[in-house]
Amino acid sequence: MKGIILAGGAGTRLYPLTLVTSKQLLPVYDKPMIYYPLSTLMLAGIRDILVISTPTDLPRFRDLLGDGSRYGVRLSYAEQPTPAGLAQAFVIGESFVGGDAVAMVLGDNVFYGNGFTRMLRDAAANAGRATVFGYAVEDATRFGVVEFDPEGLVLSVEEKPKIPKSNFALTGLYFFDRRAADFAKGLSPSARGELEIVDLMRCYLERGELDVKLMGRGFAWLDCGTQEDLLEAGEFVRMVEKRQGIKISAPEEIAYGQGWTTAAELAAAADRHGKSTYGAYLRRVADNAVRQLP
Ligand code: G1P
Repeated sequence: MKGIILAGGAGTRLYPLTLVTSKQLLPVYDKPMIYYPLSTLMLAGIRDILVISTPTDLPRFRDLLGDGSRYGVRLSYAEQPTPAGLAQAFVIGESFVGGDAVAMVLGDNVFYGNGFTRMLRDAAANAGRATVFGYAVEDATRFGVVEFDPEGLVLSVEEKPKIPKSNFALTGLYFFDRRAADFAKGLSPSARGELEIVDLMRCYLERGELDVKLMGRGFAWLDCGTQEDLLEAGEFVRMVEKRQGIKISAPEEIAYGQGWTTAAELAAAADRHGKSTYGAYLRRVADNAVRQLP
């Protein structure tokens, strides 16, 4: 399975923060935002990952993440010249994906919770179908929304409806089978001129092949679209990390935990981080001084 991180868009809702940098490079407390979606794909066991961003921002992501070897993964990069919709990522990434199944995560989505790795592994193993995730929110008008019948069957998916049919938002994490690019190429742009991710989901829904898994209570899904969201995500990460003495979404730690890098490589990564708390943490993990949580 291949992975895509979509880190495009102009981030206009975050101006002036994003006037000269990409939203997905802004800090979520102690690390760049893109570390969180990168960690998500790594926890799913995915090691071939395409980062898609704007022509202006793409070089900065390459500077930050390199070829991925320090995270035990292979990173590729591709431009999205104009923000023409989330589903366009599968067209841009078609040759990279090369007929495999593919997971995509949006560059501003932060996930954290018990059982997340299991959830990811199940979605990755759901061959020949699509898996997306629903999450109860207070204001569903800001998101893609999924509607269920009383038995829990998916009835519809809609993008930012004025009158939502449920309070379940669709998160920015999508698992599709090998048909994703073909379906995406068959889509027509919506009224706002975009290839919509919900339209791609609908291709699977119409065939009875769309699974929506709910992320329940006790699970955190945050996005970072506005100043308020960004600050809240940072506060959440800071609070959990401080309380538990762990770091959320440190890709170097995840790579080590997956057995993709050695303790020596992790120690070298720690050294590259100077006197930061992040570097000190990686050093403690390399020294086995951090008790690994399940
Ligand atoms: C996008 C998707 C939307 C999804 C959201 C999750 O919206 O279009 O369906 O619920 O991400 O973060 P955006 O935040 O790009 O407007």
